[in-house]
Amino acid sequence: MTNFIFKKLEEKGVPTHLVEELNDRETAVKKVEIVPLEVIIRNFSAGSFAKKMGMEEGIKFKCPTLEFSYKNDDLGDPFINSYYALALGLATQEEIDHITEYAFKVNEVLQEYFDGLNIDLIDFKIEFGRYHGTVILADEISPDTCRLWDKDTHEKLDKDRFRRDLGNVEDAYEEVFRRLGIQ
Ligand code: TMP
Repeated sequence: MTNFIFKKLEEKGVPTHLVEELNDRETAVKKVEIVPLEVIIRNFSAGSFAKKMGMEEGIKFKCPTLEFSYKNDDLGDPFINSYYALALGLATQEEIDHITEYAFKVNEVLQEYFDGLNIDLIDFKIEFGRYHGTVILADEISPDTCRLWDKDTHEKLDKDRFRRDLGNVEDAYEEVFRRLGIQ
């Protein structure tokens, strides 16, 4: 699914790590140095945002939000802002500017795409890598890293089915595959 989505993003001008899908289980990718930031874009309240802000889930925002977490398992990937990232030397201002621009572009492309599949893109997490002096999109984009809700039923078609023990995880992932036209 990541390869399918990364191909679409490349076509829309977002550089990614994708080189070539070799077979069902292997993909050649550009070898990057991962920027230690998780970049989260949200279009609707859900998850940790809803909890932190005391809001119910599923409220559409006036505009998308962007937030960073510092990728550090020992600390539980804490929420940070760009000043923390600069102060700790996690990224340069130029990298943060590119990451921000690409992250909103990814949101624009994916929102429009999922809209056509009757899916609301609630939020997602992406990561970037350094490659020959620039930053490119790396890691993955899948129902593991996005919240995807059916527009009509608001059924969750993502990893929250697993995280919240809702059952039918595989069915939900297969439904996303089917709507994407993969398989
Ligand atoms: P959150 O509401 O738990 O902060 O999650 C926001 C989005 O980021 C959601 O789509 C799930 C995704 N995510 C990951 O992919 N990996 C993670 O480690 C976390 C915390 C969130």
